[in-house]
Amino acid sequence: MFELKNKVALVTGGRRGMGRTHALALAAQGAKIIVTDIDAHECLPVIEEIKSKGGEAVCFKMDVSSQIEVNLVFDEAVKQFGRLDILVNNAGIYFSKPALEITEGDWDKMIDIDLKGVFLCAQRAAKEMAKNKWGRIINIASVASGGAGVGIAGGAHYTAAKGGIIGLTETLAVEWASLGINVNAIAPGAIDTPMVQAAQMPKAAMDAMLQRIPLKRIGRPEEVSAMVIFLASEEASYVTGATFYVDGGWLAQ
Ligand SMILES: NC(=O)c1ccc[n+]([C@@H]2O[C@H](COP(=O)([O-])OP(=O)(O)OC[C@H]3O[C@@H](n4cnc5c(N)ncnc54)[C@H](O)[C@@H]3O)[C@@H](O)[C@H]2O)c1
Repeated sequence: MFELKNKVALVTGGRRGMGRTHALALAAQGAKIIVTDIDAHECLPVIEEIKSKGGEAVCFKMDVSSQIEVNLVFDEAVKQFGRLDILVNNAGIYFSKPALEITEGDWDKMIDIDLKGVFLCAQRAAKEMAKNKWGRIINIASVASGGAGVGIAGGAHYTAAKGGIIGLTETLAVEWASLGINVNAIAPGAIDTPMVQAAQMPKAAMDAMLQRIPLKRIGRPEEVSAMVIFLASEEASYVTGATFYVDGGWLAQ
């Protein structure tokens, strides 16, 4: 099950954190991988690791908030691999600021990368996937996304973007079902990556958060990659427009 031989997958924000483990996990299932991030040089160790295990991978610099860069990279990727089957819209930023202090610039930066970037990549990918009447788009949201999710103090701009991803996922799933493209979202809880480490949460805040997580620990990136693999696979053929919470039970509390 979950075999991805002959599939071509593009991962955004793939140089580190969860993007890196998603790229490695997709490669382990047999997919050819295009690793993209704001710095191509920093993606090199990821593609070297894939190649050292017998996989096929290339990397490109791609800022997801730039339509020009997105188009150039997707064009080149399709030129090299001849097709595109799977997109993992993983790139994202987070910086904490009280809502009363968020500037227009802060807002635009967050929305450009965390929400507009997801749309630009999904739209470009869907044009390719439609040619083969098969595609899987996996958008990385967050438990901090409204609705069933939780509010996070200091994250008004981030939660707005992540909530937007869930709405976008549902609409794209409806529009692109007839094209053979399944679109789903994953909403991780707290996962041990450079993003969370950079947030430098005080110990008391971390302890309070862990209290609310039934599994009493933060997650490993690979535990989210497992969901990516399922959603990327043929076995997810009847799954579209859904959001999967990988959060150690946080939202069940
Ligand atoms: N770590 C968590 O607890 C957590 C929880 C919920 C959701 N998420 C989401 O998971 C995704 C991965 O985050 P992570 O925790 O691995 O963080 P990370 O900071 O380690 O990785 C994010 C990656 O995105 C890249 N990136 C940033 N701006 C970009 C841009 N404009 N264009 C292309 N790439 C860009 C970064 O260079 C980095 O490699 C993000 O969308 C994040 O919001 C993370």
